[in-house]
Amino acid sequence: MTPATSMFNPVEGDLQLLADNLKQLVGNRHPILFAAAEHLFGAGGKRIRPAIVLLLSRATMLEQDITPRHRRLAEITEMIHTASLVHDDVVDESQMRRGVPTVHSLFGNRIAVLAGDFLFAQSSWYLANLDNLEVVKLLSEVIMDLATGEIQQGLNRFDASISIETYLKKSYYKTASLIANSAKAAGLLSEVSRETAEHLYSYGRHLGLAFQIVDDILDFTSTTDTLGKPAGSDLKSGNLTAPVLFALREKPYLEVLIEREFAQEGDLEQALALIQDSQGIQQARELASHHAKLAAEHLACLPPSDSHQALINMTDYVLSRLY
Ligand code: IPE
Ligand code: IPE
Ligand code: MG
Ligand code: MG
Repeated sequence: MTPATSMFNPVEGDLQLLADNLKQLVGNRHPILFAAAEHLFGAGGKRIRPAIVLLLSRATMLEQDITPRHRRLAEITEMIHTASLVHDDVVDESQMRRGVPTVHSLFGNRIAVLAGDFLFAQSSWYLANLDNLEVVKLLSEVIMDLATGEIQQGLNRFDASISIETYLKKSYYKTASLIANSAKAAGLLSEVSRETAEHLYSYGRHLGLAFQIVDDILDFTSTTDTLGKPAGSDLKSGNLTAPVLFALREKPYLEVLIEREFAQEGDLEQALALIQDSQGIQQARELASHHAKLAAEHLACLPPSDSHQALINMTDYVLSRLY
């Protein structure tokens, strides 16, 4: 699952340490929650969010080593992300994540909800212990945003009238907020200027949007095996993403199929064919690359370094997942 990208080179040792720490941080006070959390942390994932936090930490601390707080921030970021996935898989009724069965499919919904809550609570505790009020505010807003994003998506199911702007707002809440705010927090821990901190936020915001758009395209173009999670599930469940919203402009009949929630036999297949026959996927790609490019521009505020270069490469990597 983890791509052996040289991009992570400057923080490879840091990420190894993070992987070991994450399991310990969860603690074993509750054996069943521990088993559930360890199950997911053990499976890995791409670790893009902690890699970004660590790379930004290094890129803003060129004269010194990064601090234990930077490392803890990276761990908290991955913990919050993992908690949101455990809950998301309950909501989406997904059976697979990171190439292994989801927590709820192994342990049941009750354990999955509790395990997700526990991870959120624990990340808040570690967050508070960073003793940096501004960082606490940034990351607790993220936890609110994650819930807001899931709620918005739930309310908008099968609503073919939503705009690309609404979709991007929801994607900010669900995905970009965590990357943006943890990027800014890494800068604050390095005591960068206000201006630089805002650029780091914008880097994370645009990168996060590009990442979610790409993830939404892959749901149409990739396979369950490659993704390690179910492909082709967004449209079926009424989650209308960029490729569909663009395709709707060209194929009005798609709206009829969506509004009746694919109730008649062959509806879903017909909808997929209409999308494939449209410019939707291509236009979504262009939107993702637009945001990836904007992300890279916000890095101009940092001095040159290997980590800086890796952060630029990250904007290409996000798009390269499509090819
Ligand atoms: C999945 O994130 C959720 C989205 C925002 C699309 P990742 O694709 O980063 O998941 P892992 O951590 O690698 O499993
Ligand atoms: C991921 O959302 C969960 C959050 C970012 C909160 P999705 O439902 O779009 O992601 P996958 O496809 O399950 O990874
Ligand atoms: Mg999901
Ligand atoms: Mg979801």
